[in-house]
Amino acid sequence: QDLNQPYRTGYHFQPPSNWMNDPNGPMVYKGIYHLFYQYNPYGAVWDVRIVWGHSTSLDLVNWTPQPPAFSPSQPSDINGCWSGSVTILPNGTPVILYTGIDQNKSQVQNVAVPVNVSDPYLREWSKSSANPLMAPNAVNGINPDRFRDPTTAWLGHDGEWRVIVGSSTDDRRGLAVLYKSRDFFNWTQAAKPLHHEDLTGMWECPDFFPVSLTGSEGVETSSFGEVKHVLKVSLIETLHDYYTIGSYDREKDVYVPDLGFVQDGSAPRLDYGKFYASKTFYDDVKKRRVLWGWVNESSPAKDDIEKGWSGLQSFPRKIWLGESGNELLQWPIEEIETLRESQVKWGNKVLKAGSTIQVPGVTAAQADVDVSFKVKDLEKADVIEPSWTDPQRICSQEDLSVKSGLGPFGLMVLASNDMEEYTSVYFRIFKSNGTNKNTKYVVLMCSDQSRSSLNEENDKATFGAFVAIDPSHETISLRTLIDHSIVESYGVGGKVCITSRVYPKLAIGENANLFVFNKGTQNVDVLSLSAWSLKSAQINGQTVQPFSE
Ligand code: FRU
Repeated sequence: QDLNQPYRTGYHFQPPSNWMNDPNGPMVYKGIYHLFYQYNPYGAVWDVRIVWGHSTSLDLVNWTPQPPAFSPSQPSDINGCWSGSVTILPNGTPVILYTGIDQNKSQVQNVAVPVNVSDPYLREWSKSSANPLMAPNAVNGINPDRFRDPTTAWLGHDGEWRVIVGSSTDDRRGLAVLYKSRDFFNWTQAAKPLHHEDLTGMWECPDFFPVSLTGSEGVETSSFGEVKHVLKVSLIETLHDYYTIGSYDREKDVYVPDLGFVQDGSAPRLDYGKFYASKTFYDDVKKRRVLWGWVNESSPAKDDIEKGWSGLQSFPRKIWLGESGNELLQWPIEEIETLRESQVKWGNKVLKAGSTIQVPGVTAAQADVDVSFKVKDLEKADVIEPSWTDPQRICSQEDLSVKSGLGPFGLMVLASNDMEEYTSVYFRIFKSNGTNKNTKYVVLMCSDQSRSSLNEENDKATFGAFVAIDPSHETISLRTLIDHSIVESYGVGGKVCITSRVYPKLAIGENANLFVFNKGTQNVDVLSLSAWSLKSAQINGQTVQPFSE
């Protein structure tokens, strides 16, 4: 595998070659972080007979490849080892629950346990002869094609384990099917699902976990107390990860979201770009909950085959409940700082209307940028059209060359020397058209890939989201992680994340540039800007050197 490729990443997780999709069973065990992942050892495209790839790390940044944890081998998984999760038992032993595609091509749930618990790398796993533990049958009415991706199990106050499995009915009711067990091996289906929602289709990769009401520290999956619960589902119909925050009624074993759900489009997403089948784990070393998500390619399969790989993982993110209690916040884990090299730092700077200013002195193809803006003259904001309710559409329609009041302002990343190519991540501020006294502002965050590459064959869809802040007394900030073919942006302290994949032809290696811009008609202040060149991490035996021709 030629690693001197322009689109391989320097610090985003990827296997040395071939196809990767969902993150599976992340955990920390005896001080070692583990990541398993859906992996096709034979090629750069997905295959039903997928295996559990495995890598380990001391810091969630540098990774060592391990042999696949397991592959199809027994009747209950002979046609594929699909996604699943790890549960750490009270005695400290990690156990994997995963979906097998059995000899009849039915989706069933299986268990695997470590062969040697004293090996911190957990290199060998053994599948139970009791598999499958859960199967669709005539009584439970579960569709054998829609029964997969068990979560981390949690222990109830009555000493029984609970786990949910994603499913849906024939009429598109999404289901979090609940199973219970005393011994982790014998599971019985509960009378009612933990949660369900009509017209949402198949729920892939559910994730169900508590978040603290009192700070950003994470809490263990079974813990109860001053918490809210989060249910995340990956909707196969839209390929996005949606979450709700709500209450878990331990007596009735049901979850009740505080606000609405996805049918009305109101449920928030963990990321408004490319990010799917995500999974969290509780990191008891650093007392935080960490999120991983699969970021797939935006290139045609033939390009993936040619470059020999497909799929990245997002940079691991700390995730916690925001102070408002109605949104989750995400932030790159602090270990990213170990990769920082030289820093470029700006203090207060006026970004004149219509200006584009280069940020020199960083390796712009592999960087970490953090910028905050102050916007005065908010009354100059354009009034938002009442029909503009879909942020992604507004972002797609607003051509950057069209001047407007407040914004677009933000970053241009992976920009070629003559601006033939660039990806822009930016904000726009609108006024809602109420009376002046109670003017409310609408802040829009966009990631525009439309000019990202001269190659016209890639999917260059623009992404966007509204950010719930009041710009009259809150700062608008943007943190963007740039890594050759991935642009991962965190808006306003991690309230909104947008991740995209881009494949510049010119803005590669040393020919990539970074700019701050303001295309609006009003000046905007840059309160501060820090940009760091990032070193390459050691990822699965390879350190990708910045691309050179
Ligand atoms: C999500 C998914 C899961 C399944 C796995 C198969 O991307 O479709 O539902 O278990 O991928 O690779």
